[in-house]
Amino acid sequence: MTATIGIDGKTAEYPVHQGSVGPEVIDIRKLYGNTGRFTFDPGFTSTASCESKITYIDGDQGILLHRGYPIEQLAEQSSFLEVAYLLLNGDLPSQTEHDEFKYLITRHTMVHEQLATFYRGFRRDAHPMAVMCGVVGALSAFYHDSTDIHDPKQREIACHRLIAKMPTIAAMAYKYSVGQPFLYPDNSLSYTGNFLRMTFGVPAEPYIINPVVEDALDKIFILHADHEQNASTSTVRLAGSSGANPFACIAAGIACLWGPAHGGANEAALEMLRTIGRPERIPEFIARAKNKDDPFRLMGFGHRVYKNYDPRAKVLGAAATKVLDTLGISDPVLDTARELERIALSDDYFIEKKLYPNVDFYSGIILSAIGFPTSMFTALFALARTTGWIAQWTEMMEDKEQKIGRPRQLYTGHPRRDYVPLNQRG
Ligand code: CMC
Repeated sequence: MTATIGIDGKTAEYPVHQGSVGPEVIDIRKLYGNTGRFTFDPGFTSTASCESKITYIDGDQGILLHRGYPIEQLAEQSSFLEVAYLLLNGDLPSQTEHDEFKYLITRHTMVHEQLATFYRGFRRDAHPMAVMCGVVGALSAFYHDSTDIHDPKQREIACHRLIAKMPTIAAMAYKYSVGQPFLYPDNSLSYTGNFLRMTFGVPAEPYIINPVVEDALDKIFILHADHEQNASTSTVRLAGSSGANPFACIAAGIACLWGPAHGGANEAALEMLRTIGRPERIPEFIARAKNKDDPFRLMGFGHRVYKNYDPRAKVLGAAATKVLDTLGISDPVLDTARELERIALSDDYFIEKKLYPNVDFYSGIILSAIGFPTSMFTALFALARTTGWIAQWTEMMEDKEQKIGRPRQLYTGHPRRDYVPLNQRG
């Protein structure tokens, strides 16, 4: 199938590609050559930037598939490491493949001892995301032996290192901020259990893992593992398209994720719920969200792709109740969240604009119940999303059609003009 595009009375045919599911895509790569025109699509609302086999989203139906598997099934039945394997390799692992992968990741959990010195250069009150950007970028200095992106073996080692070391790095960022000693990983624990111990344990006594907390956090990691070509993933791909090493690319992804419109929304959502404080104040905040002159938005609501309930929010809404019940925590924030969701979903403004709770709406309530400070929320998102970033980066590196990413622009600045010496300017 082709699409005909005509400009200045001249038409040309452009190939239309059909994915395995989802909308068809018009291949406009020859458009500039044929017409001397670019397309204009700020925010990439109508542009597919790459071909990918990893994640599929149907935003209208509220469907999210990883390598074909629905996110709800993965969240309920799988583990984060299994999902990491799936994203990286394309299929669920056999028992042997699973055990080998777990062994590989486990053997990379420690970080270079000198990295601890690196942390000490940060202020104690540094935001964990600032620390993560710096430390992950610095990994390329510590693990230079896996930065040759043209060597598939080195690429693989770098991927394993990143997935394995991220929990250690995030836990160290937390420990540094509270002034407690860093804990070495304990490889007898699960990926998530080990992270919990490195974060909340102390060297002076054994750390007992609560299985409900471990399970809830593992679910949160699964739900954040990948999400197609979102802003931070596109950042990782764009950084990688120039041939930058994977540690530098993931650091770029972390920087992008930090923004409140993206990964920073979980922190902002909980802060918003706490500011609202009690259900009676909800109408005031709904009115602010609808007011065009007020920059306030309901954090944890709305999504570029989902025009239906974000399937990840559904899983987390249920998990929030379970975790709070198990831990015996009665947090009025959960009541405020449920009431806010109820009111917003019956309000014409939110119905018309198809604004539903997204993954960040309930995750903060769970993370806070587990004991994480809000400043750690986005760092946890980065920890989990590293798997998706790495899978997407690897896919790009193996793509024969991969080129350096170089968008064009609609220039609306001055046309050519001559330099006027300083003493002659009016
Ligand atoms: N509260 C109130 N109004 C909203 C909201 C909201 N949360 N989100 C979108 N709108 C309105 C917006 O004002 C606009 O109205 P109009 O058409 O009258 O100008 C309309 O809905 C479309 O919004 P948009 O900003 O053009 O949509 P977008 O696709 O560019 O933005 C978004 C998507 C996620 C940035 C946005 O919905 C938002 O800022 N949400 C709050 C932040 C948030 O929760 N982010 C987490 C996203 S999920 C996790 C992740 O992937 O990182």
